[in-house]
Amino acid sequence: MSGTTNKKRRLITSALPYANGHIHVGHIAGAYLPADIYVRYLRSVGENVVWVCGSDEHGAAITLRAKKDNTTPQEIVDKYHVEMQDAFNGLDISFDHYSRTSSERHHKVAKDFFLKLLANDSFEIKTEEQYYDIEEDQFLADRYITGTCPKCGADNAYGDQCEKCGSTLSPTELINPKSTLSGSEPVLKSTTLWYLPMGRHEDWLRDYIEKGELDGEHHHNSKAWKSHVIGQCKSWIDGGLQSRAMTRDLKWGVPVPVEGAEGKVLYVWLDAPIGYITSTMEWAEKNGEDWKDWWQSPDTELLHFIGKDNIVFHCIIFPILLKEHGDYILPHQVPANEFMNLEGDKISTSRNWAVWVKEYCESSPEGSDVMRYVLTSIMPEQRDSEFTWTDFRDRVNNELADVLGNFVNRVIVLTRKYYDSVVPDSPNELTEIDTKVLESLAAAPDKIADLISRHRYREAQLEAMNVARLGNKYLTEEEPWKLMKTNPARVATIMHITAQVVGNLSVVLEPFLPRTAAKISSAMGVENAKWSDASTGIVAGGTKLGDLPILFAKIDDEFVEVQVAKLGNKSSNTNPNIMPQKDPTTFDNFTQMDLRVATVTECVQVKKADKLLQLTVDTGLDIRTVVSGIAEHFKPEEVIGRRVVLLANLEPRKIRGVESQGMVLMASTADGGLRFITPEEGVSPGDVIS
Ligand code: 2FM
Ligand code: ZN
Repeated sequence: MSGTTNKKRRLITSALPYANGHIHVGHIAGAYLPADIYVRYLRSVGENVVWVCGSDEHGAAITLRAKKDNTTPQEIVDKYHVEMQDAFNGLDISFDHYSRTSSERHHKVAKDFFLKLLANDSFEIKTEEQYYDIEEDQFLADRYITGTCPKCGADNAYGDQCEKCGSTLSPTELINPKSTLSGSEPVLKSTTLWYLPMGRHEDWLRDYIEKGELDGEHHHNSKAWKSHVIGQCKSWIDGGLQSRAMTRDLKWGVPVPVEGAEGKVLYVWLDAPIGYITSTMEWAEKNGEDWKDWWQSPDTELLHFIGKDNIVFHCIIFPILLKEHGDYILPHQVPANEFMNLEGDKISTSRNWAVWVKEYCESSPEGSDVMRYVLTSIMPEQRDSEFTWTDFRDRVNNELADVLGNFVNRVIVLTRKYYDSVVPDSPNELTEIDTKVLESLAAAPDKIADLISRHRYREAQLEAMNVARLGNKYLTEEEPWKLMKTNPARVATIMHITAQVVGNLSVVLEPFLPRTAAKISSAMGVENAKWSDASTGIVAGGTKLGDLPILFAKIDDEFVEVQVAKLGNKSSNTNPNIMPQKDPTTFDNFTQMDLRVATVTECVQVKKADKLLQLTVDTGLDIRTVVSGIAEHFKPEEVIGRRVVLLANLEPRKIRGVESQGMVLMASTADGGLRFITPEEGVSPGDVIS
């Protein structure tokens, strides 16, 4: 240990997943697989690296799930804390330590952190009116409250965010707020909250983010932040940083450690990133290290692997908290990934539109490396990407089986056939082609290392596979099987060189395909090879090669069909894009609605609202104004003159300063589009629909 203490340290974190559901491939491709590749590589080059993670066991995600399942939050987190680790283990995600935030230790660490901020005067304490659900006896924030988005008019915006337009919101901004717990209309009630005045930090944060950007100008600099990360941070800062409440009036969470604050807990986004610190402490204790070296020393680089929905929390809020505390280093790099879609649609837990990792690993126990390979090939590094099972099949069959598996197998089989599995000695004479192959081979590890260091895992894996392509092509073109009788010395040269290619593969593929790499290194007798051992002489002449099972089985169309059939909610409805039926309603509810035919007489865009059109409609009763969130689908001139179906007695409400008196009904199509419902000829404004 003492030998490593002076060396530069790298502390890697992956987003603590909420312990409220299963891990799917989108999670893995976002925050876990890239970190695993990075860390495996760093271990191979002998860097001083620690990778921590754990379950995020607080927040509305957990309590709402418990309510839905009619159980307690503790039971939910206990279950998923175990299940999520099964999923990670199934794909050989190799954290150094995996912790959880409901532990006593974490509660203490989070409370101490909060108290230090309190002592540093980091908070503004405010007593104010907050929404409250009388039936449930609970204050409503974040996901506990929904309503219409004041920015885009979408229904079902949450108290902290509208998922439709991405705006950050506070519950009091919502139009027609509703409790997600009871469905009732909330009332206002006074309470005290500890706010983090983020506005104080705009100046240094701007410099901090810009530093990541400036580093980006040097293309080959591992410090360069991704442009989509910088873009999101800048737009937040440019929009002005609002104070954000760091406490909540809830029962589940880390209690606010202040007298008189009973019934209050820390905001989940305050306690969760502190979970990285708790996890590091636990790791350090087990390994005889001082955790402070990893969080409070300028010799440490802190890297957060996350998905794009977590960017502001890691690039703005957590750095502010660390800075306010005073003892900590700031994140050095946040290589956030974008989202991965699945078979033409967003991954969705509620619609069961996901590939569940635990289920996949249980049904394909040999499938870990192939899944890793495909997810890395389509990793959403710079933009959203898409997973499909036919692409999965093609990559496994055409790349892993036909190139990598086939090449390695041919080398093992030919060496056994010609030399009883003993690798021929290194040759005295080389052809031009041999020299070229050896040069490419020698250059590959640095090329791959550079790409990994810059978090370009897709390209890095491609370069590693190019080593197999190089060997495959060489073997195919040199055709040793045709030369054995006439030129045995040449065959020995070819087989010596191909053995070097395979030996190198076991090293450079390890971060991506750890199981395959282990099989290859064992067959080649280079079990403990490190990155620096990858060279044109990695497998010595005279080495006796072992046997190797077939590395990759081909995937047939039936497998693809079975996997695709698992997607979506189980129902007789075979079209996964059709919305499931809503809960039953009463006939009375229906007859209360006044549905009418109306004609649109005028239509203009609502100022400063990209998604809203302002329609003037003739209802037969009157001429009135309706605001409709259809501007992304229709231009005003496409709307004028249409006959439409109007919900006429919807309570008027103000949207972006315009009073809307009713709602135009639209059909949402399975492909995500919107269409008008146009009445048949002979139907006129004012006609009642019932
Ligand atoms: O988005 C999520 O799943 C959060 N649970 C991530 C938390 S990351 C960190 F701050 F702990
Ligand atoms: Zn919105």
